[in-house]
Amino acid sequence: MNNKNNSLEKMASFCKRRGFAFPSSEIYGGLAAIYDYGHYGTLLKNNIRDAWWKHMVQLREDVYGLDSAIFMHPETWVASGHVEGFDDPRVDCQKCHQRMRADHILESFGIKADKAPLDFINKELEKLKKKKKIKCVNCGSTEITPAKQFSLMIKSNLGSPTDELSEENVVYLRPETCGGIYLEYKNMLDTVHPKLPFGIAQIGKAFRNEIVARQFIFRTREFEQMEMQYFLHPKEMKKNYEMWKDIRFKWYLNYGIPKNRLRWHKHEVLSHYASMAYDIEFEFSSLQGFKEIEGVHARGDWDLSQHGKYSGVDFTYTDEKTGEKFIPHIMETSAGLNRLFLMFIDSAYTEENVGGEKRVVLKLHKKLSPIKIAIFPLLRKKKELVNVGQKIHEEIRKKWMCEFDTTGSIGKRYRRQDEIGTPYCITVDFQTLDDNSVTVRERDTMKQERVKIENLEDYFLKKL
Ligand code: GAP
Repeated sequence: MNNKNNSLEKMASFCKRRGFAFPSSEIYGGLAAIYDYGHYGTLLKNNIRDAWWKHMVQLREDVYGLDSAIFMHPETWVASGHVEGFDDPRVDCQKCHQRMRADHILESFGIKADKAPLDFINKELEKLKKKKKIKCVNCGSTEITPAKQFSLMIKSNLGSPTDELSEENVVYLRPETCGGIYLEYKNMLDTVHPKLPFGIAQIGKAFRNEIVARQFIFRTREFEQMEMQYFLHPKEMKKNYEMWKDIRFKWYLNYGIPKNRLRWHKHEVLSHYASMAYDIEFEFSSLQGFKEIEGVHARGDWDLSQHGKYSGVDFTYTDEKTGEKFIPHIMETSAGLNRLFLMFIDSAYTEENVGGEKRVVLKLHKKLSPIKIAIFPLLRKKKELVNVGQKIHEEIRKKWMCEFDTTGSIGKRYRRQDEIGTPYCITVDFQTLDDNSVTVRERDTMKQERVKIENLEDYFLKKL
């Protein structure tokens, strides 16, 4: 058995059963396209986030960190073009009121509709409707409304004296994290004094009123982005664009995503701000095909010019050596943390046949595994074994996320750890009491070896 048969339902139910991700507000009947992360999910998400930060900030001399607020002055999103045009084309079922993405419907018939004008979308929809080809995904009705633009921006009445939302008091929840980077560009320049080219990276929540909400954590209304904006001289764009494309692709390979399940997709139709856009796509078995996980975009001088125009602040950069004055251009890398979470689970989830029994194992990269080491005393009732196990646990948990488990047979305990992707399990057995050694079992090969307790730390320092 391999992981090619992982349906989205199977992944969602696995994530819920093993404490990775839960539909939000379940006790009140749920809230569509919003998810909470359990113990193992939080650890996995933090590890993915840290792996991104390490490669994008810690290991670089030219990228600096930022954590800007979710709420920004509403003018931010007027300047960026989001208030005017951050829309998706939506159709509704006239019978059951199910919402659907019109561009996705057309694409399922092989008609390219990404960012296509509404006129085009409606003409194509009409042709299909006449042939009764379009059906509601929920009730099967063919009575579908024409497409209209639907804003993805989510409004709040933050700080408003009334409960009502009006154009005067509206504040938006940010639809992408990069907005805060542009607003803090000058403060960053004045405090860390970087020379061009340099980047500003941040990880944080973003919110979009997505039309379709049936894809587990792939597309949600509240999600996290990991974005890096690289500021440069326009002449340097091509070189740096290629460099970052390469860096980002290799990051996925580095964390165990197979090369044959990744590919580049070039956007022919571009967003209002972009002059070049490629997506990295991953072949999700749970979504039956290649889907976007990250975008690499050349944004030109759109962002700083627009914020300059709307705020009155001058974003001109003066090159110290040549004296040349210009507005820096921007290229960005933008990945969705929750989408990467689903990708890593999708890629790692494996069912194997071991001695006639099914073994579910999450073959995550060791650096990403929520729990690194589990410690099992062979018998719960044997106090000496439990005491030694506890001592080992107390020591190694100072360095790695560990779990101590005494319940059920050793086989069951291995299976529980396999399912959450724990790379190493330590068993304290009777031989331990004689020679101070324990067995260490490796997740993927299931091979075991004996290691002296005093050598465990060095052993894991080399392995993890
Ligand atoms: N600043 C550029 C930007 O936001 P994007 O292509 O709209 O570009 C970047 O988003 C990434 O954010 C996507 O590749 C995806 O991984 C993630 N993303 C976007 N919308 C999402 C949603 N509704 N749910 C989960 N992740 C999302």
